[in-house]
Amino acid sequence: MCGIVGYQGKNSVVPILLDGLKALEYRGYDSAGIAILTNNKTTIIKEVGKVINLEKKIAKGIEAQTGIAHTRWATHGKVCNENAHPHHQGLITLVHNGIIENYIELKNELLKKNYVFNGQTDSEVLCAYIDMLYKQNNDMLKTISLMQKEVKGSYALLILNEKEPDKIYATRYNSPLIVSHTVDGTYFASDVPAIIKYTKKYYLLDNNDIAIAHNNIDFYNKDLTKINKIEQIFDKTVEATQKGKYKHFMLKEINEEPKVINDLLNYYVKDNKFNENMPNFKRYNKIFIIGCGSAYYTGEIAKNIFEKYVDIPVYCYLASEYRYQKNFYDKNTLAIFISQSGETADTLEALRKTKEDKIDTLAIVNGYASSIAREADKVLYLKAGVEVAVATTKAFVAQICLLNFIAIKMAGKEELLKYFLDLDKQIKKLLELDYKTLAKHFYKSCSAFFIGRGIDYGLCEEGSLKLKEISYINAQAFPAGELKHGTISLIEKNTPVVVITSNSELKYKTISNAKEVKARGAYLLNITNAKEADKFYDDIIEVPHIHEIVDPILMVVPLQMLAYHVALLKKYDIDKPRNLAKSVTVE
Ligand code: AGP
Repeated sequence: MCGIVGYQGKNSVVPILLDGLKALEYRGYDSAGIAILTNNKTTIIKEVGKVINLEKKIAKGIEAQTGIAHTRWATHGKVCNENAHPHHQGLITLVHNGIIENYIELKNELLKKNYVFNGQTDSEVLCAYIDMLYKQNNDMLKTISLMQKEVKGSYALLILNEKEPDKIYATRYNSPLIVSHTVDGTYFASDVPAIIKYTKKYYLLDNNDIAIAHNNIDFYNKDLTKINKIEQIFDKTVEATQKGKYKHFMLKEINEEPKVINDLLNYYVKDNKFNENMPNFKRYNKIFIIGCGSAYYTGEIAKNIFEKYVDIPVYCYLASEYRYQKNFYDKNTLAIFISQSGETADTLEALRKTKEDKIDTLAIVNGYASSIAREADKVLYLKAGVEVAVATTKAFVAQICLLNFIAIKMAGKEELLKYFLDLDKQIKKLLELDYKTLAKHFYKSCSAFFIGRGIDYGLCEEGSLKLKEISYINAQAFPAGELKHGTISLIEKNTPVVVITSNSELKYKTISNAKEVKARGAYLLNITNAKEADKFYDDIIEVPHIHEIVDPILMVVPLQMLAYHVALLKKYDIDKPRNLAKSVTVE
C-alpha cells in the first residue's frame, strides 16, 4: 500500500527520495509527494499519478539535506493533490501509512481550535493534532508520546518540524517502518527496496518506538527511555529487487519458482530428511489455516493434503472474516497464518484474535521480521526473496511447498520429500510452453470460468484471481459440480472455461461437467496431468504428474503464465494493476 521514504544527512535529499519512491512503486499508489526542509522552511511538492509526474514538477537544482516522501493509496478521500502526502499544518509536516480510526473525533477538537483542513484525509488531521500538541508543550518527544496515547489505529510516521530543521522524527504502530544509519546519513523507509541501493543494514522499529535522525540516530521506547536497537542485515542483492532481463517483475518471479523450491529444500531438508529448521507440530489435532486472497487459497489446497496424510481436520478461514465468527478450538489447535508480506492487516488482526484466545500460532511468511512474523508464537520463512509484482506467484508456490512440508513432517512420511527434487526441472519445462496463443482465446472476453473439484478447485480459485487482478476479466472459479446449479446460465458461445483435472478419481466427475459447458458453446482449455483418451477440449496444457503432494505446484504454473499473457495482450500495467496494492495494510 502507501510507501514512505525519508533521508537526513550529508547528501542531496531529492534524488534519494525520488529513487526510494520509484523502488516502492510496486506497492500500489495513486499519488506521490515530497517535503524538504531548508532554513526552517518547508517546501512540499505533490502530484496525482505516477512518481514520474511528481519528478517533472520538481524544479531542477532544488537543494536540501532533510526530507520525507510518500506514495499514497487512497483510503480517506479521493485521489487529488490536497489528499496526497506530505501534509502540513502549522509547524509540522508528515507522511503517514496506516489509518487513524478516531480522526473524526480529533478533527472536531481541532476545528474548535481553528485548524483548517484542505482535504479529507485522516493523515492531515493527525498532522494538525501533532502540531497542536507540540504548541502545547514545545517538546517533540513528549508530543509524539502524547499522540501515541490519544490516537487509535495504525501508523508509520515521518515527521518534520520547522523549528528543528535538521531532524526527522519517526514512529510506528502496526505499520512497518525501518531505519538505516550510515556515514552519509539516516534513511527511513516502509520497505527495504527503497533503501537497499544505499545500505543493507537497517533497524526495525517496534510499535511505539521513536527514532530521531539528526546527523546521528537515537531510539526511544514509548516511555521515552533511550534504547539500543539491533541492526538487521538484508541478505539479498540490489538485483533481487530489480527486473533484470525480464519485461515484468511478475514474469521474473514466475521464472524464479524453480530456485524458490530449491532454496526451501536447502533450508528445511538435508539428505531427504527434514533438518532442525523444520519443527514438528505432531501434538496438534486440529488446524486452522488463515490468510487473505491467494494466501488463503494455499490453505484450501493444503487442507486436502493435511486431511489425507495427517488425518486431522483442517479449517480454512479468510482472515477478514475470522474475527467476527465463532471459532471452535481447544488446546490442541494450531492456527497457521499465511502471508507473503507479513503485514496484511486482516491477517494480523486475526492472529491477534487467536492469541487472545490462547491458540498456538504459526506464521508462514516471506517478509522477514514483519509484524505477523514477530507476533506469532513460531515463524517459518518462505525464503522466496523480494516479491515485487502485486500478483503473487513465487510466494504462492513457496507457501504450498512449505505447508506440504509441515504435513509430511506431521504425518511422518519423509519418504515423500523425494518428489520435490525434480520440481525445478519440470517447472522450467512448463515455462517454455506457448501461452501466447492460448491467451488469444481469453483477452477479448469480459468473463471466464475456472472449474475443478477438490484440490483442483483451490487451483481454480488462484487461477481466476490471477486473471482477474491483472487482466480485469471477470473470472470466476467454481467447484465443477456447482455450475449446473445456476452459473451455467452464463455460458455462451466461446465463453472461455478453464477445466482443471488432476490425476484423481474426481477427474471423471469434472470431465462430465466440462462436457455440459462444451454443449453450451464454451471454449474449453484443459489443464491436466491426467492422460485422457476422450479429447473433446479445444486446447490442452499437459502438466507432468509426479505425485499429488507436489502436483499442485506444477499445475499452478500454467495458470500464472496464462494470466500473465492475457494481461500482456491487453497491454495492462501487469506489475501494478489498478486499484490494488502489494501489501494491504488496512482492514
Ligand atoms: C494475490 O495475487 C493478491 N495480490 C492478494 O490476494 C494477496 O495474496 C493477499 O492480499 C494476501 O497478501 P499477503 O500474502 O501479503 O498477506
